[in-house]
Amino acid sequence: MKDISLNLRKPSTSRLSTLFNRLHLVNQMLEVVIKYPSVKADLTNHSAALLLPPSAMAELTANELRGYDGSDDSKPIYVSIRSTVFDVTNAKSFYGPGGPYAVFAGREASRALAKMSKSEEDISGELDDLTEKELSVLQDWENKFRAKYPVVGRVV
Ligand code: HEM
Repeated sequence: MKDISLNLRKPSTSRLSTLFNRLHLVNQMLEVVIKYPSVKADLTNHSAALLLPPSAMAELTANELRGYDGSDDSKPIYVSIRSTVFDVTNAKSFYGPGGPYAVFAGREASRALAKMSKSEEDISGELDDLTEKELSVLQDWENKFRAKYPVVGRVV
């Protein structure tokens, strides 16, 4: 519900992108109910994450980022969008090992998010050949992540 109100308030950058995101949201809601009950715990914990004091901003290389892919339970899980690193540990059921979006964990996911792809060849920060619509989808993802996850650093 929170996401829907955010979408309504946002100026429509691209009708296609907005339509896609709404369809995705419907899919998401169905999946939450049908497939991923543990997602509910993630959703209720988000406000707690937002209340945490801001972590010290770190500079990571792409290689260092790979170390935060959820394979070591004692470390947080990071995802990078346009070189901004988000701590998504709270959403382990998405990004942790075996999760539906584990492929993004410890990676720069911008291109894949823009293209709504989970293909290995799209897991990168290469944006030069993206269409305006894809860039708009990416912007929507970045807004969502900024609203939901703490920023912990930058990929340098
Ligand atoms: C029919 C296909 C798909 C279904 C049913 C689906 C379903 C879901 C569900 C249930 C969630 C979690 C709900 C939420 O927190 O908002 C979710 C989140 C997500 N989806 Fe999809 N998805 C699909 C395709 C894709 C594809 C192709 C991508 C590739 C970019 C993608 C990227 C994501 C990401 C990154 C999240 C996590 C967002 C977050 O951290 O809050 N999804 N999706």
